[in-house]
Amino acid sequence: MIRKKFHFSNSSVNYYFEGRISQIRQVVGAAKTIFITDENVFAAHGKQFKNRNVIVLKAGEEHKIQAAVDSVIEQLIEMEADRKTVLIGVGGGVVTDITGYVASIYMRGIVFGFVPTSLLAMVDASIGGKNGIDVGVYKNMVGVIRQPSILLFDPSLLQTLPDDEWRNGFAEIIKHASIKDGTMFRQLEQNDLKFYQKKKKELSALVQRNALLKTRVVQQDEFEQGDRKLLNFGHTLGHALENQYDLSHGQAISIGMAYASKLSQKLAGLQNADRVTGLLSKYGLPTFTEFDRDKVINVLKMDKKKTKDSINFILLEKIGKAFIKKISIQQLYENL
Ligand SMILES: NC(=O)c1ccc[n+]([C@@H]2O[C@H](COP(=O)([O-])OP(=O)(O)OC[C@H]3O[C@@H](n4cnc5c(N)ncnc54)[C@H](O)[C@@H]3O)[C@@H](O)[C@H]2O)c1
Ligand SMILES: [Zn+2]
Repeated sequence: MIRKKFHFSNSSVNYYFEGRISQIRQVVGAAKTIFITDENVFAAHGKQFKNRNVIVLKAGEEHKIQAAVDSVIEQLIEMEADRKTVLIGVGGGVVTDITGYVASIYMRGIVFGFVPTSLLAMVDASIGGKNGIDVGVYKNMVGVIRQPSILLFDPSLLQTLPDDEWRNGFAEIIKHASIKDGTMFRQLEQNDLKFYQKKKKELSALVQRNALLKTRVVQQDEFEQGDRKLLNFGHTLGHALENQYDLSHGQAISIGMAYASKLSQKLAGLQNADRVTGLLSKYGLPTFTEFDRDKVINVLKMDKKKTKDSINFILLEKIGKAFIKKISIQQLYENL
């Protein structure tokens, strides 16, 4: 296990790379610990929770809602959780988002940590301190920014992750490569999903590289005034599609990235949008879907990143380098 400490504006986070979930006991120490997980992770890794206080949530984005928060709070009270209790979210992004949010409001905030179990949570959702829930069709409408104290990475947990969820994780990895890391982009082009599923060392290195990439971006701009916005590459349209159609987050942002890359070729001189679409396809992600322009534009108008009649859109100048461009809703509509 390799420990690295990262400082954010008003807290620091201990990252444990190449760890094992069983080592969480030694990391947390003597504090009373309550684990929060979901039913799938509990079913796949039940023995890790033996003799532990554990709250098991229903799995899936549709349960990342206030009702789940209420239920966790009730169970915490029942378990007599107090200000010294540590909450550890063991799961995908749904579990980490709910855990971080509850820990931030329960008794005005208690210590929390994550053991991300999905690829997406390892490279993205567990990092950066954004925690929250959905309200109706609006994703992450309610929440807080507060950093976990502990992040333990155990890539061996991914052995039970369904292939579709691997692909969702790779959507965020390809996003990172596209906006910040041309070298990683080329590595991804040379390998494929099966390669990373088989090669433990390479997978662990990839997880680490992505976790560090996101960490650096967040450290430089924790409250999303500038560079952190680049992480929204593919997400503006992606979120709108995800809310309207039966697409996973990874599929939706994959289509969003394909669209943003084509727009980058049109408006920002990107030479090779086809390399982005090619890489997404290589990792089993869609790059196109039929959608209703008006419906999608209506959701975009409600997007948090929108100001008045324009929207901050993330485009690529080249592979590995992104920038923010203000685009009018009208211009976007015409290009959909
Ligand atoms: N806070 C942030 O900064 C941030 C960033 C990106 C995404 N997110 C959020 O993360 C969520 C998506 O995360 P996700 O893709 O991990 O979704 P998820 O938590 O729904 O997990 C995906 C599925 O995989 C299952 N699963 C997870 N780990 C497993 C394992 N090891 N073995 C078997 N099954 C496993 C889960 O039960 C679930 O069915 C969204 O709600 C999104 O908004 C948050
Ligand atoms: Zn995302």
